[in-house]
Amino acid sequence: MREKDLGADLHEVLITKDEIDSRLAELAGEIDARYEGQDLLIVGVLKGAVMVMADLARALATPVTMDWMAISSYGAGTQSSGVVRILKDLDTDIKDKHVLIVEDIIDSGLTLSWLLANLGSREPASLEIVTLLRKPDAAKVDIDVRWVGFDIPNEFVVGYGLDYAEKYRNLPFVGTLAPHVYGG
Ligand code: XMP
Ligand code: MG
Repeated sequence: MREKDLGADLHEVLITKDEIDSRLAELAGEIDARYEGQDLLIVGVLKGAVMVMADLARALATPVTMDWMAISSYGAGTQSSGVVRILKDLDTDIKDKHVLIVEDIIDSGLTLSWLLANLGSREPASLEIVTLLRKPDAAKVDIDVRWVGFDIPNEFVVGYGLDYAEKYRNLPFVGTLAPHVYGG
């Protein structure tokens, strides 16, 4: 879908595809500098991080291996349930590896706190986080997120991997949902 063809369900484009592309290129440069000469495992958090993983991985010069975790913290609604469940664990042992978690969005930070504790207990050589988006509430939790693409307002966003009830993940940009879609 092109950005001008928003349709009735989307309110506005928050971050364009071009803005995402150039920010990911910047982040990739910083990540390359950090891991120079090292083997890096990037871990994508399904399903939201698929687009960031695909585009960031291709922007990196660092040779990487890729693995995926699926965890659930949200139902079909827009509020965090606070409960995290592993739906799919990593295929690889991360002990003594340099691990970079790739996230789509950090909201309350509950999901990431849990993930950091979980992966940290497996004794990786290092554990860092890159997220495309971060909402204001994330500041309330003490998580050291090394790379953030964009700080965004506290609105529900979709596109570029992010969904509302599993829809809109394939939009090439990040947009806000029209209130009527989620009953607002
Ligand atoms: P927490 O609150 O644990 O949330 O940091 C992280 C996860 O919540 C989902 N999330 C969103 N998904 N639009 C979405 O499509 C949003 O605005 C949004 N805010 C949070 C997402 O799965 C993320 O990994
Ligand atoms: Mg997610």
